[in-house]
Amino acid sequence: MTQHRPDSILIIDFGSQYTHLITKQLRKLGFFTTTIAPHQPLPPQDIEVRGIILSGGPNSVHTEDAPSLPSWVIPLNKPILGICYGMQLLVNHFGGQFSSGDKREFGPSSMRWDVSEAQHLPAELELASQVWMSHCDHLDQLPTSFTTWGTTTNGVIAAISHTTQPILGVQFHPEVEHSLSGKALLEAFATHTCKLSSATYFDSLAEQIGTKIRNQVGPQGHVLMAVSGGVDSTVSAVLLARALGRERVSCVMVDHGMMRAGEVTEVKNYFTELGVGLEVLDRHNLFFEQLAGVSDPEQKRKIIGQGFITCFEEWATGIQHSNPYTHLGQGTLYSDVIESAGAGHGAHTIKSHHNVGGLPEKLQLQLVEPLRQLFKDEVRQLGHQLKVPRKLLDRHPFPGPGLGIRVVGEVSPSKVAMLQQADKIFIDSLKREDLYHTVWQAGAILLPVQSVGVMGDQRTYEWTCVLRAVSATDAMTASVVEFPAGFLTQVASKIVNSVAGINRVLYDITSKPPATIEWE
Ligand code: XMP
Repeated sequence: MTQHRPDSILIIDFGSQYTHLITKQLRKLGFFTTTIAPHQPLPPQDIEVRGIILSGGPNSVHTEDAPSLPSWVIPLNKPILGICYGMQLLVNHFGGQFSSGDKREFGPSSMRWDVSEAQHLPAELELASQVWMSHCDHLDQLPTSFTTWGTTTNGVIAAISHTTQPILGVQFHPEVEHSLSGKALLEAFATHTCKLSSATYFDSLAEQIGTKIRNQVGPQGHVLMAVSGGVDSTVSAVLLARALGRERVSCVMVDHGMMRAGEVTEVKNYFTELGVGLEVLDRHNLFFEQLAGVSDPEQKRKIIGQGFITCFEEWATGIQHSNPYTHLGQGTLYSDVIESAGAGHGAHTIKSHHNVGGLPEKLQLQLVEPLRQLFKDEVRQLGHQLKVPRKLLDRHPFPGPGLGIRVVGEVSPSKVAMLQQADKIFIDSLKREDLYHTVWQAGAILLPVQSVGVMGDQRTYEWTCVLRAVSATDAMTASVVEFPAGFLTQVASKIVNSVAGINRVLYDITSKPPATIEWE
């Protein structure tokens, strides 16, 4: 079988906090990208590498154990753009010199350009002077085969180009919005230097993913697709069923009893509408039993994660299956990969995000993650193309552990039921006031705090509910939503008047960072 390999810009991630922005900017411009870690021994075989970007990173080439330029990069003879640390690696490779700088530069900087010196960029490229720097080291000695096409106003060489090969280096970060012409530079690199056309990336994406799935799962494979009811696992399920046929994909959802009010029925109906079957395992008792007496957030997350593994394992090994599973499907996104410490660049684990990653090892299943290279907005776009109903695609994200991590402290069925009612009032109000789609994510949280109130002539001593609503683009940062006057007080009044057990409502006005979106 001949394999279609999509044209891609390969990004080698040396650990910069901005690497995902390179991907994001290029994807927005319509170019397909693939990101790998620097220790990969060969270029990826499932893409046609049309150009390489070496990202920035926290190291200096002089640091011991700093990651080096993979030995296959230069011999591959593809256009290269080195950014910040990536430029240092190029200079080092071609015999120039960097020194640890006394001129540290963090933040905006002004450039003087001479684009005509850049052999492999269009001569007519116009660039604004403001760029974003984040570095200490600076270039002392240019390799002999390079020229300069940009210098900062305080004299730092910040843009270089090989005289004959399509190799460019920039000291600043074109991927950051504050580099005013960064996008234009990335676009010129993709179209002019790599000779890529942007029009086809999204048109053929579903087909490309389908081919990849068929290659990975093989002609006999059988996938157990873990469904959460969210956009990512739903779009993954549709892609798998399209690529392999419905009979080779079993979609299974574990109902842990901590979903939103009415959500399980809603998800079941969506899957029927999509023509993809869904098995729901009702396991309320198992989860509530395991969570009794536990109030530490991490321990709760681990118990819920382990509960998923137990349920899927029980299902996957059940006697009812004549065709054993070979793969586990998950709706992992590119942002999950970046945020996980497993991405390999020393990222800190802030929270143990729920996943069923323990399962493949236990059951000897291979993971199949059709969306691993995509961001949420791209998944929504892809889902739209696949005719997944808009009402499903535009749902707010909801965490795998569900209301289990929104009941702060110990979880009980009665507290979950209370929170379900409050959350439903908030979400229904957002929909009624046409605010739901202006918000990235909203929900209610129940605090383990009781306070005194008065209702009618009665003293009350009841629980506290927090409303949270944030704006975000990828949930890595988030800001607080400012609602029209009166909206929150109406929601609060409705909650207190109709949910027995809650007598006080607060609004969370903290952004991420320093807070996270979820409370636990
Ligand atoms: P935080 O709380 O880390 O959340 O700011 C960022 C985004 O991730 C969602 N989230 C999760 N999603 N499993 C998930 O599938 C989880 O364990 C989990 N924890 C947080 C959160 O709702 C927000 O959209």
